[in-house]
Amino acid sequence: LGAFTVPASAQNYPTRTITMIVPFAAGGPTDVISRIVTAHMAQTLGQSIVIENVVGAGGTTATTRAARAANDGYTLITGHMGTHAASVPLYPKLAYHPEKDFEPVALLAGTPILILARKDFPPKDLKEFVAYVKANAEKVNAAHAGIGSVSHASCELLNSILGVKPVGVPFNGTGPAMNALVAGQVDYMCDQIVNAVPQINAGTIKAYAVATPERNPSLPNVPTTTEAGLPAFQAQAWNAIFAPKGTSPAIIATLNAAAIKALDDENVRKRLLDLGSVIPAPANRTPEALATLVKNEIAKWTPVLKPAT
Ligand code: MLT
Repeated sequence: LGAFTVPASAQNYPTRTITMIVPFAAGGPTDVISRIVTAHMAQTLGQSIVIENVVGAGGTTATTRAARAANDGYTLITGHMGTHAASVPLYPKLAYHPEKDFEPVALLAGTPILILARKDFPPKDLKEFVAYVKANAEKVNAAHAGIGSVSHASCELLNSILGVKPVGVPFNGTGPAMNALVAGQVDYMCDQIVNAVPQINAGTIKAYAVATPERNPSLPNVPTTTEAGLPAFQAQAWNAIFAPKGTSPAIIATLNAAAIKALDDENVRKRLLDLGSVIPAPANRTPEALATLVKNEIAKWTPVLKPAT
């Protein structure tokens, strides 16, 4: 039956190179997760997957491009909690809608958020950080990856809990933002764990807390925000593959199966876990589960971010 209902173009998919748009700079969390997973997916699919970093406007430039791409399975995007949820309340004129303009393919990784600072930032722990940022609200600055990015949205949540409005310093991704943090050019940042683990382990930045209920196995010495005295700040982002709306169900199924196979691969798992990612449980790996996540995340972030617009 399948042979009669599946369009010819989907039957032998893929027959050529696939482009995976990454909406942030190379070397950042979305790029790193995409490269780890797509390298394995390419083996399964028998075709190359080329990463194209398209930066700007907190990831919304790239996501607009992906929404308008041909829905033939050859242009995909790794979106995240920012591009496919936080951007909705922050950009009243957003040129795409995460739910209406995309087919969810597969969730790749959960990424706990950490409160990080330059190595010589005066506060020693989270309690001191809170007091310092409140006392120096006019002076301190916070790096982020553009309005609507994960780092921006999660620090908006932190800053609203603290009642502060630091100066925001935008970058094209938290890869370059992390370089600025390491160089001491910016004060603090809320970033996804994947980007932070190598720097924390190298001792080049400070980590005050991880904003999840449990400590992360990759950073056993970093306390949770609850342990460190700020239980109200809880944040975990996620990265996931999306295809333009109308991409054939057969292609989505092929891509989803390849992503799941990657997430079950021992080497892929080790690389993701070593960087602190949370590998999605089987029930959360379907396109339907990703659609539900997007819906819930838009509902969750809209009231948090609406006052900031
Ligand atoms: C990145 O890859 O640079 C991040 O995902 C940016 C962010 O959303 O904070």
